Amino acid sequence: MSTLRELAEEHTQLRPADIDHLHRIAGDWQLLSDMSFADLLLWVPVDGDGTFLCVAQVRPTTAPTAYLDDQVGRIIGGPEVAHLEVAHRQGRIWREGDPVWYGDVPARHEAIPVRLRTADGESGEVIAVVGRDTNLSTARTPSQLELNYLTTADDLAQMIADGTFPPPRHPGETTSAPRVGDGLVRLDANGKVTYASPNAQSAYRRMGYASHLVGEDLAKLHRRLAGDPLEGTDAGNAVLAALRGEAPPRREIDARGATVLTRALPLMPAGVPIGVLVLVRDITEVRRRDRALITKDATIREIHHRVKNNLQTVAALLRLQARRVGMPEARVALEESVRRVASIALVHETLSMSSDEAVEFDGIVDRVASAATEVAATEVTVGMRRQGSFGVLPAEIATSLVMVLNELLLNAVEHGFPPTGEEGPASPDGAGRPEVVVSAHRFRKQLHVSVADNGRGLPEQFDAERGGNLGLQIVRALITGELRGTIELRNGATGGTEAVLVVPLARTPTDRLTP
Ligand SMILES: Nc1ncnc2c1ncn2[C@@H]1O[C@H](COP(=O)(O)OP(=O)(O)OP(=O)(O)O)[C@@H](O)[C@H]1O
Ligand SMILES: [Mg+2]
Repeated sequence: MSTLRELAEEHTQLRPADIDHLHRIAGDWQLLSDMSFADLLLWVPVDGDGTFLCVAQVRPTTAPTAYLDDQVGRIIGGPEVAHLEVAHRQGRIWREGDPVWYGDVPARHEAIPVRLRTADGESGEVIAVVGRDTNLSTARTPSQLELNYLTTADDLAQMIADGTFPPPRHPGETTSAPRVGDGLVRLDANGKVTYASPNAQSAYRRMGYASHLVGEDLAKLHRRLAGDPLEGTDAGNAVLAALRGEAPPRREIDARGATVLTRALPLMPAGVPIGVLVLVRDITEVRRRDRALITKDATIREIHHRVKNNLQTVAALLRLQARRVGMPEARVALEESVRRVASIALVHETLSMSSDEAVEFDGIVDRVASAATEVAATEVTVGMRRQGSFGVLPAEIATSLVMVLNELLLNAVEHGFPPTGEEGPASPDGAGRPEVVVSAHRFRKQLHVSVADNGRGLPEQFDAERGGNLGLQIVRALITGELRGTIELRNGATGGTEAVLVVPLARTPTDRLTP
């Protein structure tokens, strides 16, 4: 389905600023739809031919819809657009028709012109029309709540026609504003409550205000609830600003352990400030969960920290044991285990310092690489180099991958460049000094890694698919198991050995990265 912007760009000559305004309307109009108990359709005139195109639609959450089918993308003309035409041409709200029928649903049509004021506050032009269509099949005598909603809805409709609704958005505010179902308070021009919906009444009750809201001075009440009656509180000031016709940002009130989000909208149909609409939402639970998440984050970091400590203890024990055993082979095996455990500890150490379950992997690789050269310090000094970047990796990939790289790096140093005299020259092609290059890049949600040395290459008759001791067994098990990737071990094009890995990245929700 096309977006509002795509539809408008394709079929109309609306300017970017016009389309932005239509987006603002569509971001805030659920409120109007709910209070009108009506569907809202946003119609834009198609170039030249007298037809109108529907670019957005919203259904009321408070009443049955007049349209079971989606209307976005529909183009209408002829007698069907007469009321839209009037609103568009004359710039006034049209509401003088008889009910029309959609199948077996009777509906009342209204048309509200959408005006975009010019930057200097001049009245500006009508750029679109909001169709307000009410399903009449369930219409009955409206209740007090409904009457209040309808009056306020008419004020907002007039403000759309004036170009004063929706108010400018404050930076950082999302559209998840309080909605009418959360709670609604209407103030008169003096800031006194004339109506409060049951949900609004409940929100204030949770903050410790038990009596009825009607007649209260809301700015003063907000100050009282927030506990500083003299100083203007944010939520109190917001009400005062809206009474002056300004559109203040959303504010929270904390009182008695409850948190309530408020949004004050000035009501000024035809430019005259007549009062304020305050939407309130009890967000105590949301805030409590936020806090719980913060503690959960800290707990996870602490766990990683402890896992790291435990792994380091295990490594220390093994090292101790390695020193005590007499048999050289056993000692080497134990020392290798020390390195394997230590490389995993590295990942947990990094995780314990980051705020989410993902690690900046390059630093880890560099540390594992330099450890590999140190450990295998034979007579040959092997250089280590990293090309490209691993980026940020989710924890579960990082732990397996660090093990794999550890083995491959050790192999490159140990077998690529054996001590001279043991098995021929270290670098048969004589091309430069011994070096291992780890390269990494991301491509199509995959991580491509290669570990290449310029050593003496794999032994003859080496079975690259299955051959090897414990080291390569660990590597293959992790690659095909945990990492669900592939590995190829081969002789490099210019001598030496190259291990090429491909690891898919897109399978975990924790991986929030673009390749
Ligand atoms: N980069 C390399 N250059 C040359 N030969 C290699 C290289 N990598 C692996 N090999 C060969 O593959 C064999 C198997 O490696 P593998 O890591 O499985 O075992 P290992 O290194 O001998 O012992 P460990 O289990 O301690 O790692 C090595 O013994 C070596 O002969
Ligand atoms: Mg090995």
